[in-house]
This record gives sequence, C-alpha cells and structure tokens, in this order.
Amino acid sequence: MKYVVPYKQIFDATIEARPPLCKKGYPETPVSPKRVSFFGGCCDVTTTIKWATTVQKPIDNQAIIATDLTKWFGEGETKTIAVNAVGLVAHFGEMLFIVGPSGSGKTTMLSMISGILRPNAGKVTVKGIDIWTLNNDQLADFRLNTVGFVFQDYHLFPRLTTAENVAIPLILKQRDWNESITEATKYLEIVGLKDRGEILPVKLSGGEQQRVAIARAIISSPEILILDEPTASLDGDTGKKIIAFVKEKILNKSRCILIVTHDARINEYADRILHMEDGHISASDKGTQ
Ligand SMILES: Nc1ncnc2c1ncn2[C@@H]1O[C@H](COP(=O)(O)OP(=O)(O)OP(=O)(O)O)[C@@H](O)[C@H]1O
Ligand SMILES: [Mg+2]
Repeated sequence: MKYVVPYKQIFDATIEARPPLCKKGYPETPVSPKRVSFFGGCCDVTTTIKWATTVQKPIDNQAIIATDLTKWFGEGETKTIAVNAVGLVAHFGEMLFIVGPSGSGKTTMLSMISGILRPNAGKVTVKGIDIWTLNNDQLADFRLNTVGFVFQDYHLFPRLTTAENVAIPLILKQRDWNESITEATKYLEIVGLKDRGEILPVKLSGGEQQRVAIARAIISSPEILILDEPTASLDGDTGKKIIAFVKEKILNKSRCILIVTHDARINEYADRILHMEDGHISASDKGTQ
C-alpha cells in the first residue's frame, strides 16, 4: 500500500504509543517517524494506518488534530464526497497552508475544523477537546472564543462603520458598547487602519476591507485563525502584503493559522503546505521561507 504523508503526521503525533494490533512485537521505544514508516517489517502498513488514525495522544504544541474527517453532500446518485477520511495535525506557532484545485474540499474541511459544519464521520480535537461532542451552546462558545474565521468575501456589514464591524465579537460577548468600540479601534491600529474606524467599509479598498475582517477575527484573541482564500479578490502585491502582515504581526507561538488558498504566489510564506485533491490530502511539503 502506498504510504501517504498525512498519516505520517499522525505518526509524529502518536509516536510514544504502541500499535495494539501489531502481532510480531513492537519496535524499541522511542521510535523515530522514519522507523515508523518501516513498520512493514513488524506489522503491515494497513494495520499501522488503522492504529495511527484511531490513537490520539496530544503533545505539547498541537493545536488541531483531525482524524478520518469525512463529509458528503446529497444522497444516492447525487452524493458528493467533499472530504474523504482526512487526517491532519496543526501546531501552535505554525502558519499552515491548504492548497488545491477548486472543489477539492478545502473550505468544507476547514468548516468542520472550525465548528461551523458537522462532519458525517471522523473527529476534530482542538486543544484536546473533541469539538463535535460539544452541545450547541458549547460549540457557539468555541466559535466565538477559540476560532477566528476570515471569509473570502470579508462578510462585513455595509451599514456599520469599520470599528463597529470589528467590535461585533465583543458585543456578542455582551461587553459594553463604548468599551468595545475603543477596543476595536486598537485592533484597527494593529492592522494599519488607525483613524479609519468611523467610515463605512464601502469606502475602503479590497485589501483594507480584508484587514478589517482580520481585525474582527482576532479581537477576541482566538488561538486558531482561519483565512479562506484571503487573497483571491486582491491583486498580487496586495495579497502578498496581507499574508506577510499576518505572518509578522498576527502569528505567535500561542496561535495557529490555517490559510486556504490556490494562489501559489503566497506559498513562500507557509511553514508547511498540505495539498488537497478530490477530498483528501495528497501530499505535504515545507514552505520556503
Ligand atoms: N453545501 C453544499 N452542498 C452540496 N455540495 C457542496 C456543498 N458545499 C460544497 N459542496 C461540494 O463539495 C466539494 C468541495 O467543495 P469545497 O467548497 O470544499 O471546495 P474548495 O476546495 O473550497 O473549492 P474552491 O477552491 O472553489 O473554494 C465540491 O464538489 C462542492 O460542489
Ligand atoms: Mg473554498
């Protein structure tokens, strides 16, 4: 059986655990990821993968562990498997890119990771919490406090000022209105839009609106930040500036940033790149920066 990279990441995460199904004895511990890939000599690769996708042992800086994540739409002849048994691990301090052609399942996968879309099968663990076992209130709380999601088309409210748009997560947390606007103004400053808080989003350029959306996503200090096609509507230079900005100013060792894109011009900013194809992760490689 062909060895696929996503499972290797799970091996890395569970390296201390021993495969319960191995019949011919275990390798000496600790084993290196390289030796795990040689489990063929100890138990067959299929067995090893079964073990690797069911055992989870969180280690230090793991932010997200997804296992066997699956989502389909429709039934019968119209059934489309958008995400097919995907496994991935993302770490704090990491800027992880998910790339792949249109329709390969990128948005669907990240919607499941961020608590927006319930999977048909599989598991998502964020900071050790199995999020799809949470009740509706807990899930809403998770989306409000732990995850910041920046949508491709910004989703700004046109009748609210930029500061009011940024303040929305705080208002939802029932913080005082004036206090929330003051806080929003600080975040607008962080994204380089000081003094633009009072104007309507329509008066801003595409890149500026994207930054307002980022300010709104980070105002509640989420540890997981997800940007879906952040540069799709921007010209090359503006797109690169946004991603460079996110990497320099927003990424830190307590935050994990996932960026979905099919814009190869920004790949240089990735710490790691996962390639999606037909609903599964087909390869993984290091970024170049
Ligand atoms: N709500 C839905 N109902 C039916 N099919 C859907 C739905 N959402 C996604 N799909 C299908 O699932 C597959 C994956 O879609 P998804 O939006 O995740 O792809 P993507 O990689 O994000 O594509 P793009 O790069 O164009 O944004 C596609 O075939 C799509 O048509
Ligand atoms: Mg998409």
